[in-house]
Amino acid sequence: MRANGMVQYDLKSMSRQDILEVTHEGSVERELFEQIELDRLPRHVAVIMDGNGRWAEKRGLPRVEGHRAGIASVREAVETCARLDLPVLTLYAFSVENWKRPKSEIDVLMKLLKQYVRLELSTLIRNDIRFQVLGRLHELSPDVVSELESAMERTRGNRGLLFNIALNYGGRAEIVDACRAVVAEALSKGEPTPLDEAAFSRHLYTAGVADPDLLIRTSGELRISNFLLWQIAYAEIWVTETLWPDFRKRDLFEAIIDFQKRERRYGGIAAAPTRSTA
Ligand code: FPP
Repeated sequence: MRANGMVQYDLKSMSRQDILEVTHEGSVERELFEQIELDRLPRHVAVIMDGNGRWAEKRGLPRVEGHRAGIASVREAVETCARLDLPVLTLYAFSVENWKRPKSEIDVLMKLLKQYVRLELSTLIRNDIRFQVLGRLHELSPDVVSELESAMERTRGNRGLLFNIALNYGGRAEIVDACRAVVAEALSKGEPTPLDEAAFSRHLYTAGVADPDLLIRTSGELRISNFLLWQIAYAEIWVTETLWPDFRKRDLFEAIIDFQKRERRYGGIAAAPTRSTA
């Protein structure tokens, strides 16, 4: 079925094997998909979507056309993660620093976001995807807030992919907000809150969600840009030259394949090869 010029799949009725059906025999996507170990997927993939402006400039188009084109990449990333049964996807859509951009660009970004949520909501519901916003939501305009809150409310009970959009988000702002919450809790109880890393992380926007295992950044920049500063402590970072509007499932598959080759030591040392006692 086609809607808004995009193919609509009923993801809920599909299994991981269905990916095979939408990647053509002999295609690069099929070849890459077959290299993925489905029982060792990252639990949480976080993406710094970058390069929309450059994508547009390369084509002699206004920057906002890059954002518009980036919506198709958002759709494909969400759809592919849902099909893979990946638990969490977080996309960085608008940072607290992005308010420095021209008002006309911000207005288009907010409009695109509202349109995206309105058009995609039924697909998210049908496919058991839970939609969540990470960031200072209350600072956005009321029309954007009500659209986002409605989508969060209507997908609250879904148990498939958790799709987070980081919006008016800053990693430092999130840590400050968590500190404020810790202090407020202590004041309301009238005693200091015992605090360790686990207790602190329960006050972050991502409370209860596994930290990203894989952090993807498009367009080749080697920066974190104030994204999930606490949560990416041990994330594997994968950077691609691909600009966000060109990002497709093959790029995601490449990132996952590369992730699965990494040795994650979390500050420890490599596991000794196991010796047979037989
Ligand atoms: C970075 O590219 C991209 C953004 C600041 C916005 C990302 C937004 C979208 C993909 C569209 C709306 C999102 C959703 C979730 C529906 P840039 O403008 O910094 O690119 P440049 O570095 O080439 O200038």
